Amino acid sequence: MVAQLLGLAFLFLPTSLVTFTTYAQPTVEINQNWEVVYQDTRVYGVVGKAVILECGPTLPDMYIWSFTKPGTEAIRAVVYDLGKGTRIQNLAKTLGKLTVISKSAAVSIEKLPLAAHGLFTCQAFYDIDKEPKVYYYYVHLTVRVPVSKPYLLMSDASPVEGSTMWMRCNLENGTGPIQYLWQHETRSGNISTFAQGNTSVINVTDVNRNLTGWYRCVASNAVNSESSNRLWLDTIFGPDIPQIDVTPYSITERGYSALERETVSLLCQAHSNPASQYVWFYNNSQVYTGPQFTITKILRMHTGDYACLAQNTYLNTRSKKTISLTVYYPPDGSPTCSVEPALNHTSLRLLCSWPGGFPSPSLYWTGDLRQEGRDGADTGEQTNPLTNTAILLSTEGLTSNNTLFTCMGTHLALKQSTQCSTRTYIPPAEPVCFAYVTNNQQYLMLSCSWDGGAPKALVWWEGPGGQGKGGEENSNILILRYGTARSGKPYTCHAKHPLLVQTKTCRLTLEAPVLLTQRRVVSVYEGSDVELSCNLRANYLPVNDIIWFNNQGVDVQGTSKYTLLRTSAWANLTVKDTHEIQDSGEYRCSTSNAVGGTEINVTLVVKRHPMPPNATLVKVVYISRQRNEVELEWQVENEEEKGWTGFILEHVWLSERPGRRGSSNDSKEDTEERIGPPVWYRNIIQDPEVRSHTISRLTPTATYQFRIIPVNHRTLGHPSAAKTPAEPRYNVYPAVIGAAIGGMLFAAILTALLLVFIIRNRNNNPRLHDMLFGLQHSQSRENINFPEDEVVGGSEGGIEEIGGLASPGATMALPRASSPLTTSPLSATPTTSQAPPPGDDNEPVSVTITVKATGS
Ligand SMILES: *[C@@H]1O[C@H](CO)[C@@H](O)[C@H](O)[C@H]1NC(C)=O
Ligand SMILES: *[C@@H]1O[C@H](CO)[C@@H](O)[C@H](O)[C@H]1NC(C)=O
Ligand SMILES: *[C@@H]1O[C@H](CO)[C@@H](O)[C@H](O)[C@H]1NC(C)=O
Ligand SMILES: *[C@@H]1O[C@H](CO)[C@@H](O)[C@H](O)[C@H]1NC(C)=O
Ligand SMILES: *[C@@H]1O[C@H](CO)[C@@H](O)[C@H](O)[C@H]1NC(C)=O
Ligand SMILES: *[C@@H]1O[C@H](CO)[C@@H](O)[C@H](O)[C@H]1NC(C)=O
Ligand SMILES: *[C@@H]1O[C@H](CO)[C@@H](O)[C@H](O)[C@H]1NC(C)=O
Ligand SMILES: *[C@@H]1O[C@H](CO)[C@@H](O)[C@H](O)[C@H]1NC(C)=O
Ligand SMILES: *[C@@H]1O[C@H](CO)[C@@H](O)[C@H](O)[C@H]1NC(C)=O
Ligand SMILES: *[C@@H]1O[C@H](CO)[C@@H](O)[C@H](O)[C@H]1NC(C)=O
Ligand SMILES: *[C@@H]1O[C@H](CO)[C@@H](O)[C@H](O)[C@H]1NC(C)=O
Ligand SMILES: *[C@@H]1O[C@H](CO)[C@@H](O)[C@H](O)[C@H]1NC(C)=O
Repeated sequence: MVAQLLGLAFLFLPTSLVTFTTYAQPTVEINQNWEVVYQDTRVYGVVGKAVILECGPTLPDMYIWSFTKPGTEAIRAVVYDLGKGTRIQNLAKTLGKLTVISKSAAVSIEKLPLAAHGLFTCQAFYDIDKEPKVYYYYVHLTVRVPVSKPYLLMSDASPVEGSTMWMRCNLENGTGPIQYLWQHETRSGNISTFAQGNTSVINVTDVNRNLTGWYRCVASNAVNSESSNRLWLDTIFGPDIPQIDVTPYSITERGYSALERETVSLLCQAHSNPASQYVWFYNNSQVYTGPQFTITKILRMHTGDYACLAQNTYLNTRSKKTISLTVYYPPDGSPTCSVEPALNHTSLRLLCSWPGGFPSPSLYWTGDLRQEGRDGADTGEQTNPLTNTAILLSTEGLTSNNTLFTCMGTHLALKQSTQCSTRTYIPPAEPVCFAYVTNNQQYLMLSCSWDGGAPKALVWWEGPGGQGKGGEENSNILILRYGTARSGKPYTCHAKHPLLVQTKTCRLTLEAPVLLTQRRVVSVYEGSDVELSCNLRANYLPVNDIIWFNNQGVDVQGTSKYTLLRTSAWANLTVKDTHEIQDSGEYRCSTSNAVGGTEINVTLVVKRHPMPPNATLVKVVYISRQRNEVELEWQVENEEEKGWTGFILEHVWLSERPGRRGSSNDSKEDTEERIGPPVWYRNIIQDPEVRSHTISRLTPTATYQFRIIPVNHRTLGHPSAAKTPAEPRYNVYPAVIGAAIGGMLFAAILTALLLVFIIRNRNNNPRLHDMLFGLQHSQSRENINFPEDEVVGGSEGGIEEIGGLASPGATMALPRASSPLTTSPLSATPTTSQAPPPGDDNEPVSVTITVKATGS
C-alpha cells in the first residue's frame, strides 16, 4: 500500500496561470582576455501559457536568439538584431507566438507550444564600438503540461474483506513527475488521505470494512492538481461474532440470569455487509427469527442456552454466539427450622433448610446467638450455606429454658425475606422408669422415657454387671433375657438434655416379690362363702399374675367353684358354698417375677355348725272335727343356748281310716301314700322364737304323725319323738265352722309371711333358702327365680404376714348373715345384723307359687 504523504500537494492551484521562470543570477565578469561569457538559466513554462526569456539585464548592441531542439545538435536562429532591427526567423512560428520585448533583447512567447521545449541561446554583443564583449545566455525552457482530470479505476468495487484489490488513477495528460493522492470519504463525510505516492496504482491487500466509502484520486504535478470523480467502495464482510445484549442485564459467573416472571429481551447484533439475518435457538432448536427475541414472563423452564445465529446471505457465511441464561426462582414455602443436640448432648445445633429455588437462598440465624459471636471459631459451623445452614451453639450461655431462634431466608427472586423459628426447652417432667415382661416371658423390658424436650433428650441405661444400653433419644428400652436380670442391684437410667448441665437419673431395682395374706388360717362354718386374700407386700417390678391353687393343688382359674378377683397387686379367692370335707385344706397363692418367685399358704378350716338343742312337741291336736288342721306346740331344751335358727315340722301319713277308703280312690295323694316308704313332709319355720304352728290341708281320713326338728343353718338337730294328733274337743257347729275358717285364714297368712320372709332373707341365708325350697316331695313347690346369688364378701381386719409374729388362726371367719356392704372392713367381730341390704325391696323378683290343696 502506498502511504507516503506529501503535505504540500494541495498548494497547487490548478487553474491559475503561472509562469515558472527561474533567473540565473547575472554574474558578468570583465574578461580582459576577450573571453566569451556563458550564463545558464532555466525557465519553466506551461503549455499554452506565456513565457518570457531574458537575455541579459541590459539591451545588447547585437543579439541572436537560437533554438536547439532537445535530442538534436543543431542550433538554429529564431530571431536576431544586428543593429538594424529585429529579424524573426520562420522557425519562430513553430515556437508559438513569439515577440521581442521592446528595449530589451527578451522574447515573450504566448501560447507556449510543446515544441518550444528546448534550449534557447541568446548570443549578446556589447560595446561593439569599443572593446566588444560577448555573452552567451543559455535559457533552458521546459514546457510543462498540466495534469488532466484523472479518473479512478478499481479492480473490484465490492471486495470481500481480506481480499486484495487495486485502485488506479488514470490520467491522460500531465507532465511528470506526477504525485498521486487517494482520498477516502467515509459515509459520514469525513475525508482523509488514504494513500499517496508517485505511482498511479495502489494495491490494497487485506481489504477491510474500514475501507468502505467514497474514493477519489488527486493527481498533481508542478503545474496543477486535478481530482477525479469519487467512486464507492463497498467492502463485503461478516457476519462478525454476534453480540448479544440481555435486558435486564444481570450477569453471573454462570452467564446471564433473570428472575422468574420478568420480561427478558435478547438482542443480537453481528456486523455484516450486507446486514445480517438472525435466527435464535434455544437448546439447539430454532425459536425465533429476527434480531430481538423477547420472552415475556420467563419461567424456570426457560433456563438454558440461547444461541444467536447471524447469516450473511451474500457471502453465505454465518456466525453464532451462545449465551447461557439462568432463570432464578425462589424455593417454595419458607425455610424449616429444627434444633438437634450436638457434641454428645452438650450443645445445640440449629438447622435451617430451605430447599429448592435457584440459586439457593441465603439463610442465617438470628436470636440469642451470643455464643456463636463470642466463640465463632469453635461454635460456628457452616454447611452448604445456601440451602442449609447449621450453627453450633454451646449451651453454657443459654440459661433460659424456652429460647426462640429464628432463621431468616432471603432469595434474590423474592422481595421479602421469610423465616422460620424453633424453640428449645427442657422436658417438663422428670424421667420415668418402668419395667414390663413380654407375653411369652422371654424378656424383661426396662423402659425409661423423658419426653417433651426440644431437642430430644438422650436416654441411656446402666445396669449391674455391664448390662446397659447406649443412648437413644426420648426413651430407651433395655431388654434383658427373662432370667438374666440381677436382683437387688439398681438399673439406672440416665437422661441428658443439652439445656441442662446435670444428667437426670431414675432407677429400677429388681426384687423378688413377697406375698402377704390377712389371715393364714381361715375358719368358716359350712355352707358359707369365704374369701381368701393374698397381696404383694410392695409394688414390685413386673410380677406375673398371682395364682391361687386350691386344696388339691389345682389352679383355680376358670372353675365355677371359686371366684377369683385379682389385680396386679392382690388376688382374692372366694370359695363358694364351703363344704367341710371337700373345701378344707391348704390353699396356696403364688407369683414370681424375673428375679424370683414366692408363695404363701392359707389354711381353710370348714366347720360344721354345732348341733341345735333338742325340742319336744308338747301339743299335737286337730283343731276341728274335719280333721284337716292340726295345731302344734313345742318346747326347746336349754333355751339359753340360742343355737338354732328355726324348725322343721314334719308329718307323715301312717294309714287311712277304714270305710272311707274305697270312695276316695279319686285322690292322687291317696294313691301315692300307699306306695313306697313313708315320706316326711316338711314345714319350715324360720323364726327361732316361734313355738306353735298349725298344719292345714290334711286329709281327714288319714292318720298322721308329727315331729319337730330344730335347725341351725345347715345342721339339723335330733328329731323329736313323733306324735299322732289328738282328736279335738267337741265343739258347737258354728264354733267349729268359725275355728275352721279362722284356721284357714291363719294358715294362709302364715304361708304368705313365710314366703315374704324367705324372699327377703334369701341373701342372708341363701343356703337355707336353697335347702328349704330345694327339698324333694315338698307339699308345696315354689319356683323362685332370683338373680344370681351375690358373692358374700366382707373382711375381718388385721393384716397378717407370713412368717410374721401374729399367731395363726387368731381370727376366724364366721358365716355372715349380714350384707358385706354393711360390714366394717376393720371390724374384728362378726356382725350379725338381720337388716336386709338397702334397696333390696326394689329388686325385681319373680315369684311363682304353686300350692296344691287337698280338697274335702
Ligand atoms: C492532452 O493533450 C492533447 C494535445 O495537447 C490534447 O489534444 C488533449 O485534449 C489533452 N487531453 C486532456 C484531457 O486535456
Ligand atoms: C474525521 O477524521 C478525523 C481524523 O481521522 C477525526 O478526528 C474526526 O473525528 C473524524 N470526524 C468524523 C465526523 O468522523
Ligand atoms: C517515486 O518515488 C520514489 C520515492 O518515493 C522514488 O524512489 C522513485 O524513483 C520515484 N519514481 C519515479 C518514477 O519518479
Ligand atoms: C501491485 O500488484 C501487482 C500484482 O499483484 C504488482 O505487479 C505490482 O507491482 C503491485 N504494485 C505495487 C505498487 O505494489
Ligand atoms: C477500523 O477502524 C476502527 C476505527 O477507525 C479501528 O478501531 C479498527 O481497528 C479498524 N478495523 C480494521 C479491521 O482495521
Ligand atoms: C436446556 O438446556 C439446559 C442446560 O443444558 C437444561 O438445563 C434444560 O433443561 C434444557 N431445557 C430443555 C427444555 O430441554
Ligand atoms: C457422652 O456423654 C456420656 C455421659 O455424659 C459419656 O459417658 C460418653 O462417654 C460421652 N461420649 C462421648 C463420645 O463423648
Ligand atoms: C421448659 O419449658 C417448657 C415449655 O415452656 C415447659 O413445658 C417445661 O416445663 C420447662 N421446663 C423447665 C425445667 O422449666
Ligand atoms: C380383696 O382382699 C383384700 C384383703 O382382704 C381386701 O382389702 C379387698 O377389698 C378385697 N377385694 C375385693 C374386691 O373384695
Ligand atoms: C403349703 O402347702 C403345701 C401343701 O399343700 C406344702 O407342700 C408347702 O410346703 C406349704 N408351703 C408353706 C410355705 O407352708
Ligand atoms: C336329744 O335327743 C337324742 C335322741 O332322741 C338323745 O340321744 C340326746 O341325748 C338328747 N340330748 C339331750 C341333751 O337330751
Ligand atoms: C281305686 O283305684 C285302683 C287303681 O287306680 C283301682 O284298681 C280300684 O278299683 C279303685 N277302687 C275303687 C273303689 O274305685
